Amino acid sequence: MISRDIIDEIVYRNDIEQVIGSYVTLKRAGSNMNGLCPFHNEKTPSFTVFPATKSFYCFGCGAGGDVISFIMREENLDYVDALEFLAARAGITIPHDNEPPDEHGIPRKRVYEMNLAAARFFRECLSDEKYGKEAMSYLTEKRQLSMATIRHFGLGCSPDSGWALTNHMKRLGFSDEELSAGFLCGIGKNSGKPYDYFRNRVIFPIIDTTGNVVAFGGRVLDDSKPKYLNTSDTPAFKKSKHLFALNFARRCCSERMILCEGYMDVIALHAAGFENAVATLGTAITSEQARIFAKYTKQVVICYDSDNAGQTAAQKAIRLLGEVGVDVRVLKLEGAKDPDEYIKKFGADAFRRALEGGISGFDFKLGSIISQYNLALAEDVIKASGAVCSMIAAMPSQVERDIGIRKASEILRVSPEAMQNDVEHARRRMRSAEKKRESEEAQRSIRSFGDRVNTDAAKNIRASRAEETLLGLMLIYDEFRAEAASGAVGLSADDFVTSLGRRIFEALCELERSERGFSKAMLGEYFNIDELGRIEKIEQERRALARNDKEVFLASIDSLKKESGKSEGNSSDPFADLRRMQALHKQAKEKKNV
Ligand code: CTP
Ligand code: MN
Repeated sequence: MISRDIIDEIVYRNDIEQVIGSYVTLKRAGSNMNGLCPFHNEKTPSFTVFPATKSFYCFGCGAGGDVISFIMREENLDYVDALEFLAARAGITIPHDNEPPDEHGIPRKRVYEMNLAAARFFRECLSDEKYGKEAMSYLTEKRQLSMATIRHFGLGCSPDSGWALTNHMKRLGFSDEELSAGFLCGIGKNSGKPYDYFRNRVIFPIIDTTGNVVAFGGRVLDDSKPKYLNTSDTPAFKKSKHLFALNFARRCCSERMILCEGYMDVIALHAAGFENAVATLGTAITSEQARIFAKYTKQVVICYDSDNAGQTAAQKAIRLLGEVGVDVRVLKLEGAKDPDEYIKKFGADAFRRALEGGISGFDFKLGSIISQYNLALAEDVIKASGAVCSMIAAMPSQVERDIGIRKASEILRVSPEAMQNDVEHARRRMRSAEKKRESEEAQRSIRSFGDRVNTDAAKNIRASRAEETLLGLMLIYDEFRAEAASGAVGLSADDFVTSLGRRIFEALCELERSERGFSKAMLGEYFNIDELGRIEKIEQERRALARNDKEVFLASIDSLKKESGKSEGNSSDPFADLRRMQALHKQAKEKKNV
């Protein structure tokens, strides 16, 4: 357990404005700061930082908490790792013994150990005369990789046996549960026994920026299906938050990164000297991944496969990367289906030249719209112009829109003024649709957010409101918390109707009574990030109302006691009816028998 002094010190030395400000562009709004929420997509800022309470809350998606919760969410870390992250940032050393397990009961570090051991095993298999022969010749001959490249990426292979890895890992002391939670094993439906998940495949380890092996991809050696198997999300891994080869690319990517589709593309590019290439992990790019790019680089060159799927995927990537403000270029490779094949056919220099000739995201979209029409027909020109105007209207910068209009009007041979008008019109339409959508979404997420985090709140709305008032006051005022924890006001955990409310109450009391004493920064030991967001909301809502607080405190205790008494009455015996029926049945039977 980490001492309270150190936790408080970590929070104190990591100024929330500065920390959040390094991820989010914040603008001052009165005594608070506003920005676009990094945790959901929005165009109007509903993300607020409250310097006075050292906390943040997003009114759109319900994310919230202190600087620790922010890092938990943003860096995808658990509580203890987030503390370590912030401690390192402030130059504090945490003395620690054992860390708490994560939600699957397996500590993240244990998953890393397991993956590292597995990666070593796969690597050794690849250099094994017998087991690795086929995979090795696939990599070196068919895919023309050098031994240096194979070693650099830590490539390996999984034997065809079905139990080789499982047996090896069990000898190393990993349990069936650990292996299946880490996605290295499946558990046989009938036998109940574990078996290797990856069989007879080339293995690509996926390594995060701190050097942990977080996942694996495995490719078949022939044309069989499925071509790839990938680690599903585990306690240590969310595929939407990682990029393949970012561990290497991060060292040389401040000006530009290359985004491709496949592991093999990335490996071929690195081998040819383009070490700023990365790929998503078998999925279309997510907004989280777009934010990773924004964190590391100024420009992203999208270099997807030249087939239709690749080109459609490029449209989505242009949008998401555009939204986070990186300069997007698109490379359309002529004469090859993907970067891997292009380099093999035409060489690294040709690729380097192609890279400089990448077209802007705008030109790419303009080109793909225009190619759908026959500009010799007046009718088609009108349609094309309409589609282009909608596309331009969605661009955030006025200057870029002006340049876009000039370009498009020349190609379409229509007047720039007319296009300008249409663009303005489309923008007005978009803005009002956007506003409507955002407010609907915010309301929906507030509603479902409440349901998701505090699932029983809907059962007794009045009681859950009283709970929130009470808990808000206990969070804000030391004296109310002390009174409640000492039992002076006669309140106990049983008075709480929702299980989240009860847990918050218990945590507050336990911390209050503990030797360490209460600090809000310690709530991460008890609650997950969604719950921490909820707690922040409860506190902020109460702060916004703060008036006659002592009276409100006592009144809400009263009302909670009344409400919880009522709900007990309601649910005292849900089987009462059933029992009564059974009793009648029995009586009837007995009568018959007599
Ligand atoms: N992918 C996947 N599952 C599949 C097919 C593809 O997860 N069944 C993911 C992999 O991450 C793969 C990427 O999508 O790297 C791109 O797919 P593809 O172009 O088919 O594979 P390449 O890596 O280019 O492999 P190759 O060159 O051997 O075809
Ligand atoms: Mn490919």
